[in-house]
Amino acid sequence: MNDLKPPIPNYTAKVQNGMQKTFYSFLCSVFLTITMKVLFVCLGNICRSPAAEGIFTHLIEKYSLENVVSCDSAGTIGNHAGEGAFPKMKRVAAKRGYNLTSVSRPVRPERDFDTFDLIIGMDDHNIADLKKMVSGRLVKAKICKMTDYCTHYKNTYVPDPYYGDTKDYELVIDLLEDACEGLIESLVKGGIC
Ligand code: 4NP
Repeated sequence: MNDLKPPIPNYTAKVQNGMQKTFYSFLCSVFLTITMKVLFVCLGNICRSPAAEGIFTHLIEKYSLENVVSCDSAGTIGNHAGEGAFPKMKRVAAKRGYNLTSVSRPVRPERDFDTFDLIIGMDDHNIADLKKMVSGRLVKAKICKMTDYCTHYKNTYVPDPYYGDTKDYELVIDLLEDACEGLIESLVKGGIC
């Protein structure tokens, strides 16, 4: 992501342009916090999506995007609700410098599809399950797949590592690092932040 311009100056410039354009956008830029909200979703919300949340949070801090982007994670099943990330996932993530602090929760369709601007599943099962939760093309358009943001890896999904060994967890981190960088880049390039 060498060509990534510092996001805050870009964002500030956008806000300043807006202030010149209309009094309304001036009021918005002063009184509203404009935030892009991203929800990462996997099956259990103890391995892949907590790791995505941890890595993306790390990048938000790295690029000083705290005021314009935020994220959370959830699972399509609630079997692990209330649990922290799976210890093996936490260990492998910690080795790469990521502290996974999220607590598992199920997707709450009635709230999450309103609250979040982007809902990102890890594999095609997650995507299918998410699409079953809502009706309406506009809401479904918020759903996309994590690997769509990869710029180096050609994988078409982030594989479930739950019953796997350390290598499987390391692949999850590799894919998520690539996808999270790509996601930030696409938000910045799209003028979202
Ligand atoms: P995750 O992994 O979807 O990446 O959190 C899994 C965690 C738990 C289960 C399956 C996948 N499970 O069957 O309990």
